[in-house]
Amino acid sequence: MSQKYTELARLLAPVEGGMARMREVLAAQMTENSPAVRDMTDHVGRFQGKQLRAALVLLAGEATKNTTDEHPTVAAIVEMIHLATLVHDDILDGAEVRRRVACVNQRWDNQTAVLLGDFLYARAFALSTVLSSRLCSRLLAETTRKICVGEIEQSASRYDFDMSEDRYEWIAGAKTANLYAAACELGARYPGGSRESEELGVLMHAFGWEVGLAFQIVDDCLDLTSTDEELGKSAGTDAEDGKVTLPVLYTYRRGDERLRAKIRDVYTLPGLDDRARRLREECSIGEGVAYATRRAEELVARALARVRTLDESPAREALERLGTFVLARRF
Ligand code: IPE
Ligand code: IPE
Ligand code: MG
Ligand code: MG
Repeated sequence: MSQKYTELARLLAPVEGGMARMREVLAAQMTENSPAVRDMTDHVGRFQGKQLRAALVLLAGEATKNTTDEHPTVAAIVEMIHLATLVHDDILDGAEVRRRVACVNQRWDNQTAVLLGDFLYARAFALSTVLSSRLCSRLLAETTRKICVGEIEQSASRYDFDMSEDRYEWIAGAKTANLYAAACELGARYPGGSRESEELGVLMHAFGWEVGLAFQIVDDCLDLTSTDEELGKSAGTDAEDGKVTLPVLYTYRRGDERLRAKIRDVYTLPGLDDRARRLREECSIGEGVAYATRRAEELVARALARVRTLDESPAREALERLGTFVLARRF
């Protein structure tokens, strides 16, 4: 495990046991008799991500004193849904690398990747039905629907340089903040029923939403400024695919007509190489990145203020540090 993952593991120490259990549940779901499917589940199962959403289920549970025996399973279900969205997202974005290895759509093909994503969703929801409460199924079905709407709306808004910031945040919220919010809400509220847990669910939902939105804003900055090697996934795909993200929207809105025309050209001229580098080097995107970073900081500050209303605990402290991690992350 590389040093950056070791640091993350240290941050998640208060839920170390739950995370280990979550990984067991996840591994047990990644099995199938078909050798062809097993090849693929081995591929996506071997290369783990940061598992932040699973950690949030467990940390939110601990920080609100709501942990149950079923929390690691809930966390595994959330991770599986996240993984399914990644497999499908990489098809949409024509991405090549994910978690430091070839994307499923690359190593196999788009058709097979669609089916693997479906397989993962099916497994996740089947597992959710064995839980004692239906809260997890209900909430995650709703969340998955919103993620799909977010991805579809994003596709419909490609090359829209006049998109409002509200619409940008709506899309980022739907496709990413949504699952963060659901993870935190489930941690604090699952299995549901008591008035107190409902209230804590609302609080943690808002925390997760703000952290998740900040996460996506930072992700959009990294897509412009970082490399495949550092991120472990394809960088620069947003500009290649016509996704106009917050740093670009801000630069475009503030720019004169000459700069705007340049940005449009970098996005749309056929056959250009490395559009992200051109945005950095030819379109003064730095101010836009600084602006987007400030917005992410503002969101995390708000999220931290919420979580500080909980009793002090190692889990609460880890939630606070996770907010900071989201801002500082380079992968
Ligand atoms: C990537 O999420 C997808 C986005 C919402 C930007 P992560 O960066 O959490 O992905 P993994 O699970 O660590 O690979
Ligand atoms: C995708 O956003 C969010 C999902 C719901 C999967 P991105 O397209 O920015 O995610 P990455 O950069 O490919 O991980
Ligand atoms: Mg993508
Ligand atoms: Mg991205």
